[in-house]
Amino acid sequence: AAAVALPLERVVSAKSASRIASSKLPRPYTLPFKVPPVIKPVRSDATTDYYHIAQRTGVAEILPGVKTPVFGYEGISPGPTIRATRGREVVLRMTNELPARHPRWGYEAWTSCHLHGSASLPQYDGYASDITRPGQVKTYRYPNTQDARTLWYHDHGVHHTAENAYMGLAAQYHLVDPLEQSLPIPKGDYEAPLILTDKIFNSNGEFIYDDNGHSGLYGDVILVNGVPWPLMKVEQRKYRFRVLNASLARGFRLQLSTRDPMTVIGTDGGLMVRPQTTAQLRLGMAERYEIVIDFAKYKPGQRVELRNLGVKNSVDYDNTGKIMAFEVTGPAKSLADNAVSDPDGLLNPQAPAMDLAPAMAVQKRKLEVERKNGQWVISGTTWADVVKSDYRKVVAKPKLDTVEQWEIVNKSGGWFHPVHIHLVDFKIIERNGKAPFNYELGPKDVVYVGENETVKVLARFGPHKGRYMIHCHNLPHEDHDMMTQFEVVGDSEGEGDDPITSAPP
Ligand code: C2O
Ligand code: CU
Repeated sequence: AAAVALPLERVVSAKSASRIASSKLPRPYTLPFKVPPVIKPVRSDATTDYYHIAQRTGVAEILPGVKTPVFGYEGISPGPTIRATRGREVVLRMTNELPARHPRWGYEAWTSCHLHGSASLPQYDGYASDITRPGQVKTYRYPNTQDARTLWYHDHGVHHTAENAYMGLAAQYHLVDPLEQSLPIPKGDYEAPLILTDKIFNSNGEFIYDDNGHSGLYGDVILVNGVPWPLMKVEQRKYRFRVLNASLARGFRLQLSTRDPMTVIGTDGGLMVRPQTTAQLRLGMAERYEIVIDFAKYKPGQRVELRNLGVKNSVDYDNTGKIMAFEVTGPAKSLADNAVSDPDGLLNPQAPAMDLAPAMAVQKRKLEVERKNGQWVISGTTWADVVKSDYRKVVAKPKLDTVEQWEIVNKSGGWFHPVHIHLVDFKIIERNGKAPFNYELGPKDVVYVGENETVKVLARFGPHKGRYMIHCHNLPHEDHDMMTQFEVVGDSEGEGDDPITSAPP
C-alpha cells in the first residue's frame, strides 16, 4: 500500500483572529479516551425495539474548561450508539427539538436522519429533502435484515447536512448477528468505536464553520469520540476498533507510530471474507473499517500512537498528524476472543456483494464526478436539478435484483470524492485499472475516488424499489450540490411513486 496518494487538503484560510488561543488547546494524549453511551430502547416486544431520540442543543466540554454549544442526538456528540440485532426491527422516533434557526449561522435547523449502511425503505432512508423542521417528529423503521456491520446515523437535511453534522448530529449504530458473535474476534471491553472528526474553535469556544468556498472544512483539532487526541489504556492483547471517519472533508491516512501492521476485519458492509493486514490505510469521509490492533508485544508503559500521515495545515499549533495514543498497562485480564478470524482464517465467507463477478452485470454505467462551472456535479447534474424535476430526475434506473457495474471517474484533478451509493453494498473490483487495495476487499457503500482516479464497482440493486441518493460524502460538496439519485425499478416499470418529501426550494 506504499503508493497511496495523499488526500489533497487545501490550506485552512487564516481566520486566526477569531480562533481560540492555541494555549487553550489540550496537548495531545493528555485527555482520557471515552466511548459514547449505548442507548436503551424505551420498550421492546417480540419483534421490535423502540427508541426515542431528540435532536437538541447541548453544551459540551471538548476543550478543558471551555464550553462549546453542539447539536446532538439526545444533546450529545457523538450521539448515543444504537445496538441492533439482525432480524429484530428498530423503530426510531426522532424529534427535532433544535432552535428554529441556528443561533450563529442563521439557517433553519431542519433535519433528515439517515441510517448510513442500511437497506431502508425509501420513506425511512433519510432522503435529504424529506425534512423534519424544528418542532416536528418523524418515526423511522429499520429492518436490520443485513449482515452484522458498523453503520452510523447522521443528519442529511438538504443544503445543511454539513453544518448539522459538524455541529454534532452523528453517531454509530452496530448491527450484530450470530455469525459475528460466534467468531473468536475481540468483543465487549475489547471492542470500541473510533469516530474521527475535526473542528475549529473560536475564542468563545464555539465551532467555526469555514468551508473554504464549499470546497472543504479542515479543522485543526482532531477528536476521537468527541475527545481531542485522547489516550486509551490498553492491555497486552488484541482490540477491535470500529473506525469511522465522520469528518466533513478531511481524509485520514492511518498508521501506527511503530509502523506495525494492523489487521482489517471489516469494511462498510460488515466482516470481510478473510482478514487483511496493512501498515497504512486511507480513510475517506463516511468510510468504516473494523481494525484489530494487537498490543501483546508492547511493554507495560509503552505508548503507541495512531497517526494521520501526509497532512498539511497552516496553523502553528498544527497537530492534525496525530489522532490518539494507546498506553499499554500490562497483561490482559482476559484472553477470550483474542483472534482476527476463525481457525481457518475466515470471517464471513458469504460477505455481502463479495460473490459478485463482472459477468453477472446486466448493465454498465459511468458516473463522472467533477467541478464544472463553479459547481460540484455528478455526471453533469446536481441536487438542484433533481428538485427542479419534482424529484423525478434520476441518473440510473437499475432493475430490482439485477447486478450492474458502475465506473466512477474523478475528473476534478485537485480533489478526492468519497462517493456513497445509498441502499446497496458494493464490491470494488478495480482501482485505476488495477486491483483495489487489499483492505478494500470487503462489502462497501462508500468508495474513495482520489484525484484523477477511476474505480469500478459491482452491486446488486435491491432489496427495495424506489429512489435513493448517490452523492459525494465531502459534506460541503454534497450540500453544494454534488448529489443526485437513482431509481430501482420493477421489470416493466418506467416511473415509480413519488418519493416522500416536504422539500424546501
Ligand atoms: Cu452518510 Cu447519504 O450519507
Ligand atoms: Cu466531493
